[in-house]
Amino acid sequence: MAHASYTSRRSGLTTAVVVRRAASPCNWTSRTRVSPWRSSERRFPVSDEPERRLDYSTTSLEDARVRSVGLFSGIGGLELGLCDAGIETELLCEYWEPAADTLRRRFDAPVVGDIRELRSLPTADIVAAGFPCTDLSQVGRTAGISGDESGLIREVFRLVADTPPTWLVLENVPNMLTLQGGSPIRHVTEWLDENGWNWAYRTVDSRHFGVRQRRRRVFLVASKTQDPRTVLFADETGGSSAQKRHTAYGFYWTEGNRGIGWGEGVVPTLKGGSKLGIASPPAVWIPSAEDGRAICRPSIAAGERLQGFRAGWTDGSGTLGERWKLVGNAVTVPVAKWLGSRLVAPGYPVDVDRRALTPGRRWPFAASSVAGNREAWSIGERPVDKRSGVSLMNLLDRYTAEPLSLGATSGFTKRLKASTLRRDDRFVAALDAHIAALTAG
Ligand SMILES: C[S@@+](CC[C@H](N)C(=O)[O-])C[C@H]1O[C@@H](n2cnc3c(N)ncnc32)[C@H](O)[C@@H]1O
Repeated sequence: MAHASYTSRRSGLTTAVVVRRAASPCNWTSRTRVSPWRSSERRFPVSDEPERRLDYSTTSLEDARVRSVGLFSGIGGLELGLCDAGIETELLCEYWEPAADTLRRRFDAPVVGDIRELRSLPTADIVAAGFPCTDLSQVGRTAGISGDESGLIREVFRLVADTPPTWLVLENVPNMLTLQGGSPIRHVTEWLDENGWNWAYRTVDSRHFGVRQRRRRVFLVASKTQDPRTVLFADETGGSSAQKRHTAYGFYWTEGNRGIGWGEGVVPTLKGGSKLGIASPPAVWIPSAEDGRAICRPSIAAGERLQGFRAGWTDGSGTLGERWKLVGNAVTVPVAKWLGSRLVAPGYPVDVDRRALTPGRRWPFAASSVAGNREAWSIGERPVDKRSGVSLMNLLDRYTAEPLSLGATSGFTKRLKASTLRRDDRFVAALDAHIAALTAG
């Protein structure tokens, strides 16, 4: 039986959190469980070339029982993806009640609250932390990595310093590479360097994982004993999507001055942001729909699907606005599944251009530092190329969408027309027709 230790600030009492040996890692994915679990000493890769074997030595966990701890778990997008890859969830940490409520409903693992009160972690192979982006994201406060919320990364460092897992997984917005000259990524990697961790990070886009959402995120994998390049850089599909006619276009109706987040066949990134403020789901234009229905807002069930959760994942947890925030904050489930699969079964890194990572230059979209060898990787954001089986239009048809209100459409159209943004004339005509239809009746 494994334990974590949690001290409540209110009562001052320290309790041992007993980590149950659940029959399944989370109650949604129990059908995907792999068994039996056997430990393996097999090393990866098995190569005939001794130098290559030395370069990329990582232990495969394929036949082992693999356990993870989730910090800043939100509604568990990261953890659910890991579960889908056969990894058991031992402990979850989340202090916002609507999110914690979803976790308790969906996972067979204890959920503890404020990370600052978590004294220790149970032994685990993986510690995963999609730490708060509020101070780093373009839509957030951009106070930076020392901000009140994003600065909580220090709590992750404190916990893994005491009990280093085989793998540490961090996730955040790409702005962490550019904000204040890249100070967030520098802060994270300096701590890892100073404390003897190998690390690699890569920017990937959810749209290549079978969901109809554009969502670029940075995943960082670190280990004191393993080579994270065998996890993050083992897959690359390259190329670009073939141009095709789309039947629906996503955009942010709340914007319109500097950009609208235009997406062809996809919605722009679902946003979460802080606990304060209202999360605003994007809108979608469906050219073939009748006037008055062609400009619409996806339902929350559609939003959950756009993040790779099953529809209804957050049912019963908080208000509709809170549920959009929960969904917008999450890691896209199939992206986490890909990562989990590679943590369990690392692969051989692909052969792409690499150069020395030079201090003072822009942080690249992908980089690594292994045994002091720091490199920038010319690798794309599409490790896999999984096509969505359902178009954005059909997704909204299946999970419903409401017409965008007259006020919202009028305000957006006014801003768009007054801006210097390039726009499709047919789209502007559709907005005018939507306003006319709603005004008429
Ligand atoms: C970016 S979200 C994580 C989303 C999550 N990875 C997922 O896939 O759903 C960050 C989460 O950290 C939580 N959080 C912020 N401060 C916290 C604290 N002091 N203790 C525990 N959780 C905290 C927030 O409530 C939020 O749900």
